Amino acid sequence: MPQNDDKNNQKGMKRGLTRYGDTAFSLFLRKAFIKAMGYTEDSLNKPIIGIVDTYSGYNACHANVPQIIEAVKRGVMLAGGLPVTFPVVSLHESFSYPTSMFLRNLMSIDAEEMIKAQPMDSVVLIGGCDKTVPALLMGAFSADRPTILEVTGPMMAGSLRGERIGACTDCRRLWGMHRAGEIDAAGIEAASERLVPSAGTCGVMGTASTMALMSEAMGVMLPGGAAIPAVMSDRMRHAEETGARAVEMAAEEIVPSQLITQKHIDNALTVLQAVGGSTNGIVHIAAIAGRLGLDASLARLDEIGRKTPVLVDLKPAGSNYMEDLYKAGGLAPILREIKDLLHLDAMTVSGQTLGENIDAAEPPFEQHIVKSRREPLAENEGMIALSGSLAPNGAVLKKAAASPALLNFEGRAVVFQDLEDLANRIDSDDLDVNPDDVIVLKHAGPKGAPGMPEAGYIPIPLKLARQGVKDMLRISDARMSGTAFGTIVLHVSPESAMGGPLALVENGDIIRLDAVARTLDLLVDDEEMEKRRAAYKPRAPHAGAERGYMKLYLDTVTQAEDGCDFDFLIKS
Ligand code: FES
Repeated sequence: MPQNDDKNNQKGMKRGLTRYGDTAFSLFLRKAFIKAMGYTEDSLNKPIIGIVDTYSGYNACHANVPQIIEAVKRGVMLAGGLPVTFPVVSLHESFSYPTSMFLRNLMSIDAEEMIKAQPMDSVVLIGGCDKTVPALLMGAFSADRPTILEVTGPMMAGSLRGERIGACTDCRRLWGMHRAGEIDAAGIEAASERLVPSAGTCGVMGTASTMALMSEAMGVMLPGGAAIPAVMSDRMRHAEETGARAVEMAAEEIVPSQLITQKHIDNALTVLQAVGGSTNGIVHIAAIAGRLGLDASLARLDEIGRKTPVLVDLKPAGSNYMEDLYKAGGLAPILREIKDLLHLDAMTVSGQTLGENIDAAEPPFEQHIVKSRREPLAENEGMIALSGSLAPNGAVLKKAAASPALLNFEGRAVVFQDLEDLANRIDSDDLDVNPDDVIVLKHAGPKGAPGMPEAGYIPIPLKLARQGVKDMLRISDARMSGTAFGTIVLHVSPESAMGGPLALVENGDIIRLDAVARTLDLLVDDEEMEKRRAAYKPRAPHAGAERGYMKLYLDTVTQAEDGCDFDFLIKS
């Protein structure tokens, strides 16, 4: 029996009392302090609903969190609860060194411990930017308190000289044009003022949109919430309803370990495939499922992908934006199209099953964003899992965003040892590279970079970009932004920093990708590989590896197929 566990089954302010050796004194002291904020005894006896505040001056994707908190609080109070906000780490993609992925687990530990440490009968998570939703769900699932999620919602699309644009597929596309000399310095500066025209998360099918849709499909968000833009009044109404529902959930005491089953994870994986979602989605759902001892393996992703069509015409696989998906009905029309592939009996935080939620959604209407099963964006296999001699433990490829001509391909490796090497040489006129080569990036994995940066979207070498080359087969142990596109193999495992086969690839080696057979092979004979393995020397430790969070991270982070969670946080 573990010691020091809060098993006294108390509720509200009496829950998890600070230990002074006198519980009555602990409660007296707690109330004395919180009454300094003007609460009456009556309000302190209501169900307490914790609200996670992830506002940060560095996080534009969360700029509307103060308004969302007001709406959630309104819902809580109208339903008879006492809302109490508390801060946790907030992460924005472009403001997290070395990467937000490096810090995702820190945020999850922060959320878990603060939910467990402070008195709350249920908790409303408010997240949005890529890592915040997975981190909050990982933490809350481990804390195992009744949990409901509200996302900040996507940003609006922008406009540049008559063209519709949005973060961040167009960030990369316009930057690629700038690199190729097609957009000058003034043009790219003008673009920087139009790409992110409002608060909210990236407006394409990037990681934030993917995680929002998967979360709604998993049943941890009230129906209809995933696609509502951040700046719309519907977002605040949804937040108010979320607050009210959190009060009911506090009374029902349905905790994540009871609510979330393998069916919920499979529903999330099915939606990941159906929306042509971000490759990051598989890493995050593996980590989220791992907190409950459930399975979101690459094999499961691939099996589900083989029967799931890609239906959503959003960038980067398609051509529209999240505000268009919202106007088309959000997640509901997607779920309706793939009803037979879902576990409709999975219970959700609405108090109804997923099937009942679908039935209660507004009736179908004509729209062109969510395709029908008869005419999908792609027949199946939005994302596929690969394995082979170059990736014995797996790798992923977003097939829906790849060039068909490169899906069955063999080419000569052009190797970059790490991100620095890539930055130094990729644009060199002396680089020995042809359009039918395979670009390989090493040491960009969870431990190698560290933090598994979104560096898998390796730029086309400048001299080839100038010739008009738009895509090449690129392979790494890195991740890729969900907003990127191209024939890009990611998450190669074991990563090169672990001495995996990727570490042993040399310039001129032949690599073969067969997307139909799901194989990724390094065509080097065993004898030569043995010789290279014997000569392999691990790299020197990263600066700061001897202490603090960096040490914890490097000592315990798992590989991509296990979600890059810390090994001691995964439920065995
Ligand atoms: Fe926050 Fe894209 S940077 S969602």
